Amino acid sequence: MKIKLQIWRQKNARAKGKFETYELDNVSPEMGFLEMMDALNLKLAKESKDPVSFDHDCREGICGSCGLYINGQPHGPEGKTTTCELRMRFFKDGQTIVIEPWRAKAFPVIKDLVVDRTAFDRIIAAGGYISIDSGSAPEANNIPVCKNSADKAFDAAVCIGCGACVAACKNSSAMLFVASKVYQLSTLPQGKIEARERVQKMTAAMDREGFGSCSNTYACEAECPKGISVTTIARMNSEFLTAKVVAQKSE
Ligand code: SF4
Ligand code: FES
Repeated sequence: MKIKLQIWRQKNARAKGKFETYELDNVSPEMGFLEMMDALNLKLAKESKDPVSFDHDCREGICGSCGLYINGQPHGPEGKTTTCELRMRFFKDGQTIVIEPWRAKAFPVIKDLVVDRTAFDRIIAAGGYISIDSGSAPEANNIPVCKNSADKAFDAAVCIGCGACVAACKNSSAMLFVASKVYQLSTLPQGKIEARERVQKMTAAMDREGFGSCSNTYACEAECPKGISVTTIARMNSEFLTAKVVAQKSE
């Protein structure tokens, strides 16, 4: 396959970026999207040009670092697929592919396609953990967890923190990410203890970081590579309201 690439190039956070056009021959349909990017960078290096910076790590759909906007869609055209799992067979010979970084105020561009997603780390640090003393490794059945709760917690725990939900939302809302983390922890018995405190701390951190409010368009659900449902947001909202009511009553 022969493809044309229009890629956002930006030297650093302060520089003005622009699209540059590249052509690449001999792209195999079986190549992963990031392997295609590697091939482009090899070509650029041979030509003594600056390779394109992009984030990646596991290349197995687990780490959440490979967030790219591809032809107007976070992680590209294939549903429930991270960029590293996307194959070039989903594109046509001769097609032009436009590649951009996530565009959100809370995710400033560092270089080219790499954005700063440490806002997510700060939200997790604000409360996305269980702080009870866990001591030594417990027996598996010491704390019974019903199957229904375990399944619900796991559905939320599959969030890889990629930020596609933010990138897809017209308000750059981080609600799906935050709701996944809140719900995952508060559904399990160990996490219930500080659930009310957690939801307030994490949503306050989300606001501080400059993410917008939920736009109710379900764009986050449509673009989430792990298929996390917006019902998770409804569950977080209900937990948030309960926390507020309980806090008012105890004042
Ligand atoms: S909710 Fe989905 S889209 Fe958002 S960060 Fe988690 S995995 Fe990525
Ligand atoms: S590189 Fe880890 S999810 Fe894509």
